[in-house]
Amino acid sequence: MAMASKTVLLLGIVVAVASVLASGAPPVQPPRIQADVVVMGFVPCNNGTSMRTGSAPGFAGAVVQLRCTDDGAVLLAANATTDGKGRFRMAVNTTVAPSSVAGHCELVVGTPLASCNATLPTSGTLRSGLRLLVSMVFFPRGFSYVAPSV
Ligand SMILES: *[C@@H]1O[C@H](CO)[C@@H](O)[C@H](O)[C@H]1NC(C)=O
Ligand SMILES: *[C@@H]1O[C@H](CO)[C@@H](O)[C@H](O)[C@H]1NC(C)=O
Ligand SMILES: *[C@@H]1O[C@H](CO)[C@@H](O)[C@H](O)[C@H]1NC(C)=O
Ligand SMILES: *[C@@H]1O[C@H](CO)[C@@H](O)[C@H](O)[C@H]1NC(C)=O
Repeated sequence: MAMASKTVLLLGIVVAVASVLASGAPPVQPPRIQADVVVMGFVPCNNGTSMRTGSAPGFAGAVVQLRCTDDGAVLLAANATTDGKGRFRMAVNTTVAPSSVAGHCELVVGTPLASCNATLPTSGTLRSGLRLLVSMVFFPRGFSYVAPSV
C-alpha cells in the first residue's frame, strides 16, 4: 500500500518534469533529486528464490549491500539497513552510467536469516539483481571534465 502510493507519487513527479520539458520552458534542475541512483525495496525473511514483496514477512534490521563491479573493479558500493518492515532505501552519488547500473550491480544481504526467524539458515546470503523502477530515479547530476592526475 505504502509502496504503491510512493510509486504514484514518483510517477506524478515524472509527469510534471516531462510536461515542463515538453512545454519548451528552460530546463530547470529538479530541486528534490539529490542523488544519481536511488535503490529502494523490500527484503523478505525467507530462503526462497525470486521472492516478491509480500511473499514473506519483512526482514527487519538486515544490512543490504549494493555492489557494482566491472571485471573485478569496484564501480560503486553502498549499504543500507532495513526498517522494521524490511524496507530499505539508499541514495548514491556516482559517476557510473545509470544504464550500466542494472547490468553491473547486485544487492547482497549478509545478515543471517536466522536473526529474523530462528528456523531459517544461520549462514548464506540473500542476493538480488536490480531493475529500473522508474526511469527518473536514475538521474545524472551533470558531467564534468576532470584532467588526469599527474
Ligand atoms: C558495507 O558493509 C560491509 C559489511 O559490514 C562492509 O564491509 C563495507 O565496507 C560496507 N560498504 C560501505 C560502502 O559502507
Ligand atoms: C549528492 O550530491 C548532492 C550535490 O552535491 C548533495 O546535495 C547530496 O546530498 C548528495 N547525495 C548523497 C546521497 O550523497
Ligand atoms: C519461520 O520460517 C518457517 C520456515 O520457513 C515458517 O514456516 C514460519 O512461518 C516462519 N515464522 C515466521 C514468524 O515468519
Ligand atoms: C530453507 O530453510 C528451511 C528451514 O531451515 C530448510 O528446511 C530448507 O531446506 C531451506 N531451503 C533452502 C532452499 O535452502
